[in-house]
Amino acid sequence: RIRPVILCGGSGTRLWPLSRRLEPKQFQTLGGEHSLFQDTLARFRDGEFGRATVLVNTLQEPRVQYELQQIDHPAGAPLVLIEPAMRSTAPAIAAAARILAAEDPDAVMLVVPSDHRIGRPDRLQDAYRAALAFVEKGGIALFGIRPTAPETGFGYIEAEPAGEGEVLKVMSFVEKPNFDHASRLVADGRHTWNSGIFMFRADTILAELADHAPHVLSAVDAGIAEAGRTQNSLRLSQSFATAPEISIDHAVMEHSSRLGVLPVSPEWNDLGSFEALWETGQHNGEENVLKGDVLLRDVRRSYISGSRRLISVIGLSNIVVVDTDDVLLVASRAQSQDVKFIAQHLAKTG
Ligand code: GDD
Ligand code: MG
Repeated sequence: RIRPVILCGGSGTRLWPLSRRLEPKQFQTLGGEHSLFQDTLARFRDGEFGRATVLVNTLQEPRVQYELQQIDHPAGAPLVLIEPAMRSTAPAIAAAARILAAEDPDAVMLVVPSDHRIGRPDRLQDAYRAALAFVEKGGIALFGIRPTAPETGFGYIEAEPAGEGEVLKVMSFVEKPNFDHASRLVADGRHTWNSGIFMFRADTILAELADHAPHVLSAVDAGIAEAGRTQNSLRLSQSFATAPEISIDHAVMEHSSRLGVLPVSPEWNDLGSFEALWETGQHNGEENVLKGDVLLRDVRRSYISGSRRLISVIGLSNIVVVDTDDVLLVASRAQSQDVKFIAQHLAKTG
């Protein structure tokens, strides 16, 4: 059975101050009933998936445990792998691969981010099934989303042109191009967005890491050798923190010759910006997306979210207002992605 591996340790700076280090995007409900993390787990309740592994940072572990208790787990309570420091996705995935390969030498991992909204998960499920034979033979399957705009926040996968539903050969991989480059990639019709979802055998990714990122693997192995274990958790030791900070995209995907891509249209949204929250949110008659106690006059096409007190706006449109316990953000919707610079500045200055 396919083993879901859920990446849950990111900090989501693009939605500051809604998304914070202790309260990142994956733990927010953003309109639904459950958090994005809980929704992610719920997609793997079918019998074809085995027990899940959840990869989380030590800061966010209590939150993960709390959220896991609120839902039931037909395939068994997930194993929680706790990272002592944020080292991006390559070290985290390497740790999961080591643990799963030790349990089952033929283990197939399905690595998924925990902070996306997916309207048609059934289409992804079909793609996972279609990818399985390719993966069992040692391939690395990527799931490509057909692009609708020159987004600069995604990786792009270039495939040989052909129809949907089969594994296409990957020609090149471009992580987060600038706007002009992204515009050319979208126009040429051969590129899809990297969804951040990957499927591979545990021993395949370990071999790729040994080839392309041996320092990641040695730090992870030391972290596992000294790990603290309970029945449902494994706390990696401080040695894990000596791993270089590198994503799986840069560490492996850009160098691997085992990649195949399956183009899918699962109504996927990365929810990586206030623009995306506004677009996907519930619009009222003035095309505003509103949360909390809000009183408006002559305000259109805006995203306004508060929790503690009344927010009132008069005569401004296309804006973002986010009011939290300790931070108030006011921005134009068009420029709201620049909040990441404020979050980065605060991370540096404390
Ligand atoms: N456990 C753990 N530890 N998880 C992490 C860490 C870490 O140190 N860093 C990030 N994550 C998690 C995030 O919570 C998220 O679920 C996932 O890994 C991807 O990390 P992001 O930080 O959100 O990556 P990104 O959005 O910049 O880029 C990736 O996703 C895009 C699609 O959303 C890349 O794979 C792009 O190529 C891709 O297009
Ligand atoms: Mg992301």
